[in-house]
Amino acid sequence: MTNSRIAAIDVGNDSLKGIFGKLESEMNIPNVIARDIEDRPIIGIEELDKQDPLDGLHIRVHSPALQDNNAIYRVGNLATKSNNSTELDPGSSKSEEDQTLVMLFASLALDAAEQDSLFKKNNNVIEANYTLGTGLPLREVKEGKDVGYRSKLLGSVHQVEFLVTPRHQGIKVNIKFDEVKVYPEGFAAFINLVMDNNGNIINKDLIDKRILIQDIGGLSTDIAVIKNRKVDDDKAQGFNLGVSESLEMIREEIRSKYGIELDSRRDVVEIITKKNDRNHIMVKGSRTSVHEIVDRILVELAKKQYRHLRNMWQKNSQTEICYFIGGGSSVLKEYIKTLNNNLDGYNIDFFEDENESIWMMANAYYKLIADFSRKNQKQDHKREDEKKLAKTK
Ligand SMILES: Nc1ncnc2c1ncn2[C@@H]1O[C@H](COP(=O)(O)OP(=O)(O)OP(=O)(O)O)[C@@H](O)[C@H]1O
Ligand SMILES: [Mg+2]
Repeated sequence: MTNSRIAAIDVGNDSLKGIFGKLESEMNIPNVIARDIEDRPIIGIEELDKQDPLDGLHIRVHSPALQDNNAIYRVGNLATKSNNSTELDPGSSKSEEDQTLVMLFASLALDAAEQDSLFKKNNNVIEANYTLGTGLPLREVKEGKDVGYRSKLLGSVHQVEFLVTPRHQGIKVNIKFDEVKVYPEGFAAFINLVMDNNGNIINKDLIDKRILIQDIGGLSTDIAVIKNRKVDDDKAQGFNLGVSESLEMIREEIRSKYGIELDSRRDVVEIITKKNDRNHIMVKGSRTSVHEIVDRILVELAKKQYRHLRNMWQKNSQTEICYFIGGGSSVLKEYIKTLNNNLDGYNIDFFEDENESIWMMANAYYKLIADFSRKNQKQDHKREDEKKLAKTK
């Protein structure tokens, strides 16, 4: 397996997180796509190339794995600005949506185009080989959907053609997978907690404990139950409740009360999590508190999340600790801690660094796929050594 680049990709409902190669590049793309019905205006090449490719992902995707083959999409930031953009519906199945594949292929193609010296290139066509680690919600793995998803990816070559995209216009990337591993999301989080980047166990204390992992994302919350170093499929639960809706409500109240138009949910997150002057905005040049709005809305969500926790703990009474992960957990951290102190006092833990919380899955897939790839190479070497030995006999 020469020249197979490692890719670890978490296609979250809110955003895709990707880690590539030897940990040298990372990518975060909002999970938004828009089918192109009108042509994207041709932009002067000089003007276009000044932009960041991440702000102008405009692609045609050709793959037998897609229901809609050969369609043109705007992806990520560019799609956000489009009025027919689609975000994943919380009730849908990640493994069965074209959107999941379009996001996945777009990120891989962008990585390949930026690292084209690693691959064979003929004219404008890059032949990109990847070893992919990715995941699906526990629910879908439970239904066996990971098998079909994996074979769809492995079974063919997927082509991404960059259209009006900064720096890569006219480039085609043929993506081929040498190996694909599809991990259940909850299990992956557990792995990240107990394993380092070299496949060593780092948390001996934790590994045999019974733990819960509550992953609060943009649109959904998943609670995994870990026992005997395995996820208990039957106990895991998922809810269509994330933090995006509350962030949207805060944004709307700030707009109606102060006439301040925040560009995105990301701006709201910035206001409510920044170290200095948290929960304050400038209104006509005056520093203004939005504490009341933020508290009211987030306490409401924290209560709902806490109810789920309580429910799970009741059903799994021998649980020793619950970890809160995902972007939603960093937003709700203080609220959930306060509720817990005043109510049941469960043994719960959060991650200090919000990036650690958000990148938990992608990091886990990286550890798992890198470990797999290392072992595979060892196997290959061993086989070669054996062959050599056999010859010398
Ligand atoms: N530092 C941060 N950077 C980006 N988003 C953040 C940050 N802190 C909190 N968030 C918020 O957390 C949410 C995203 O969380 P996360 O990335 O865990 O979701 P996801 O995994 O994409 O979605 P899901 O788990 O529903 O599939 C967003 O609503 C985002 O606004
Ligand atoms: Mg997630």
